[in-house]
Amino acid sequence: MKLKILEGALKEELLTTLRNRETSPKEFRENLERLGTLLISEALKDVKTRTVNLKTPVSEGNFRKISQEVVFIAILRAGLSLIPPAVNLYPKGRIGFIGTYRNERTLEPVNYYVKFPKVEGAKYIILDPMLATGGTAEQSIEILMENGIREENITFVSVVSAPEGIERLRRFKEATLITASVDERLNDYGYIVPGLGDAGDRFCGTD
Ligand code: URA
Repeated sequence: MKLKILEGALKEELLTTLRNRETSPKEFRENLERLGTLLISEALKDVKTRTVNLKTPVSEGNFRKISQEVVFIAILRAGLSLIPPAVNLYPKGRIGFIGTYRNERTLEPVNYYVKFPKVEGAKYIILDPMLATGGTAEQSIEILMENGIREENITFVSVVSAPEGIERLRRFKEATLITASVDERLNDYGYIVPGLGDAGDRFCGTD
């Protein structure tokens, strides 16, 4: 797996606000959307383009436009938070969902809903703010590959990643992981440390 870690002052500012337990659900959502915009821009950098010829108000020339279909896959529930920045950046993108919950005992993912557009040659960008054990991530990449999507067309976008999750994805040599931070570790409850808590709960305002 190709690993890209986002850099820069703005990323740090947004991530620090997300980590702060005093951040309100409203601020959390806004900052997650902003950081999502930075991450998804990075994920869209290697989408295939084609040449178009057009006239500007002052001359004529060859320019580039996106030629590859793009499918955003939200991992339910927390991945929904990254759909608004994704479709704001690229409204032509299609949307799919993979619904999983974690078995509290084994921490392994169980699928309850899978629906996404199957588009030959498209780039699939999987969205999940937290890459923890990597179980859900691994399973979602496998689901895409079982549907004929090639590894090199799969990018996983997470805000915070645990080393354990990254290790689990290493076997997907041609896929890409884009993240804003590689944190220290997982705790005994499967939470990323220092992390930002339960991203789904904080985004939704769940108690
Ligand atoms: N999912 C979360 O929302 N937070 C974690 O720390 C781990 C998994």
